[in-house]
Amino acid sequence: MAVIYQEKSGLFTLQTKTTTYQMKVDKYGVLLHTYYGPKTDASDYSYLIMPADRGYSGQPGDVQDERTYSLDFYPREYPVYGNGDYRIVGMKANLKGQVPALDLRYHSSRVMKGKYRLEGLPSMFAEEGEDGVDTLEVVLKDRYEDLYVHLLYGVYEEDDVITRAVRVENCTGQAVELKRVMSMSVDFTERGFELVHFYGKHAMERQMERQALPHGITEISSRRGTSSHHHNPFVVLTRKDTTEDHGECCGFAFVYSGSFKAQIEVDQIHQTRLTMGINDEEFCWKLEDQESFIAPEVCMVYSEEGFTGMSRRFQKAFYRRLIRSPWKDRMRPILVNNWEATYFDFDREKLMKIARQASELGLDMLVLDDGWFGKRNNDNCGLGDWVVNEDKLGCSMKELVQEVNDLGLSFGLWFEPEMVSEDSDLYREHPDFAFQIPGRSPVRSRNQLVLDISRKDVREYVEERMFRVLDEANIVYVKWDMNRSIENVYSALLPEGSQGEILHRYVLGLYEMMEHLLERYPNLLLEGCSGGGGRFDAGMLYYAPQIWCSDNTDAVERLKIQYGTSFAYPMSSISAHVSVCPNHQNGRVTPFKTRGICAMQGAFGYELDLSKLSDEDKEEVRRQVKFYRENYQVIQSGDYYRITSPWENHDVTAWSYVAQDASKAILAAVFTDLHGNPVAERVRWRGLDEKAVYEIDGREYTGAALMHGGYLLPVPQCNYDSCMLVAVRK
Ligand code: GLA
Repeated sequence: MAVIYQEKSGLFTLQTKTTTYQMKVDKYGVLLHTYYGPKTDASDYSYLIMPADRGYSGQPGDVQDERTYSLDFYPREYPVYGNGDYRIVGMKANLKGQVPALDLRYHSSRVMKGKYRLEGLPSMFAEEGEDGVDTLEVVLKDRYEDLYVHLLYGVYEEDDVITRAVRVENCTGQAVELKRVMSMSVDFTERGFELVHFYGKHAMERQMERQALPHGITEISSRRGTSSHHHNPFVVLTRKDTTEDHGECCGFAFVYSGSFKAQIEVDQIHQTRLTMGINDEEFCWKLEDQESFIAPEVCMVYSEEGFTGMSRRFQKAFYRRLIRSPWKDRMRPILVNNWEATYFDFDREKLMKIARQASELGLDMLVLDDGWFGKRNNDNCGLGDWVVNEDKLGCSMKELVQEVNDLGLSFGLWFEPEMVSEDSDLYREHPDFAFQIPGRSPVRSRNQLVLDISRKDVREYVEERMFRVLDEANIVYVKWDMNRSIENVYSALLPEGSQGEILHRYVLGLYEMMEHLLERYPNLLLEGCSGGGGRFDAGMLYYAPQIWCSDNTDAVERLKIQYGTSFAYPMSSISAHVSVCPNHQNGRVTPFKTRGICAMQGAFGYELDLSKLSDEDKEEVRRQVKFYRENYQVIQSGDYYRITSPWENHDVTAWSYVAQDASKAILAAVFTDLHGNPVAERVRWRGLDEKAVYEIDGREYTGAALMHGGYLLPVPQCNYDSCMLVAVRK
């Protein structure tokens, strides 16, 4: 069992392959957090808590004679507001209309084989009753009211991850107002952590930043209704000396696609608390008697092997335990998407020209992006009218798809189901379907409004329209886009006073729609998208095995974007395309080869007019397609290594993939600067079999030599030159 419960001492110790997590019910029934870190035994680690009579740190009501005991600085498993803990808390709630105050004490617990599930929410899974995966449920109860808080832990021994979630159950006989329900909280009684997080903007997502933590509260969050381009719901606490390969770090990934908040507080005695969950700023949930509220899952990894060890565990766990799609192990189609090739300006002939060229070059799929429906000839109108524009296409969707299929290509289609243009039949018919605050003019973005998919009737309307299109033709891939942040959050159907529920209900509605789509088309390859990577989160992976990583297709900026994304997410989930030069986002010119090498870092495709390529570039496409097919297994399911960081090394960014049995490895490098009288860059391969002999370009090296001595990269011959080396074990 990965969960050890020592009833006498009140200790719960969770053991994974290399980590230990511990909590303890103390003599007052308070659940203390006593350990999270490298694997150790099930000793009682509460000896590390130092009692002290600290000024202005009070005692809970039933602790009269022990002035050295205070929840103001004791490490707690799930801190709540209102019992003398002035730090950030997990939960804040009250009986309707009363002052928020909670005092949670231990009530009961149970350990189950296998993994808990969360109704209506994405979560990591396991086989029914699977060995090595356990669920611990610890139930806390308010000392005064029948309000129960179920702390859920999923312990994956072999995968080396622990998940957490919370269910609040109201048995008080009256409504409770939930003002904040974080999915987790963890206390480290030591000082000196740093924070790594991934900030960004549209077309420049997941930029890595590392910073010291000051005393007080540091916050990484989104209040945009989506996980956002601006901050990813993934943060890392790290020791100061931790590097890519060495040292301790601890990652927290939120399995949720809406507004979130991760806060880290360094307190008066330098301890560090981290909480993560739904953003509580606009949140207020009215929980009726006998109802439950579920706070989504957080996945945690503690690594002693630097960022590499942490990322490896996240990537593998998400791949094995979170992505459900039947496509996860299948070779993903190498596709061509018409967006950057044509934008809105296309017809059947233009599309077929691209398709014919794609077929000739050995690609697998044509994806028809925005502009095929309603009167959508620019981005000011038409969203919501999911009716094929046959005048524009010059045929029905069925005919177009058939013609593409006849070339040996499959077909994919773009939707933006959560949106509506004011200039659309849908909006003219149902203006109340959009979020709008009565009496105020709405905030527009890309000239569109957000549909209130917290409403069942709105969801059903959109689903019905989408299904009609998908039923008509042989469409095997859907790109589900979402192109603005949510604002004007007011739902015409929810009662006054419940508006604080909408953003979360919206996300639940989104998940339900995706679930319905996948139920109806079980073989569908769903690609997530939100103006590129504005909703690149673990929650999405439960539905979509790949996500369009960024609207920025420049190979060089993608180095940083994909580098950041790789910290938590599997490479196979990173959708990346070769596009035209000068690049449409930043005007940069890069060699075609380099664009291919960068896009092959993930789910690979093209996004340009293939029919306009030079013969030389067409030859390069053939080479890229062949290489990707031949090495797909290593790229998709091999171990991924970040070899050099684009933030630290301004001359070269390198990474590698190593087959599970180390029989083959691929190392890719892109040169980001040029110098006169150059010196060859030396890189160290990783993850090889030290004793084996590998052949690279006809020359032999031992694994040890490549890993310790390293390898001299060829000197770049032009701006943004690149190379891709294959090492095969003899
Ligand atoms: C978003 C997507 C792009 C494209 C456009 C279409 O920006 O990220 O890939 O689909 O919308 O409008």
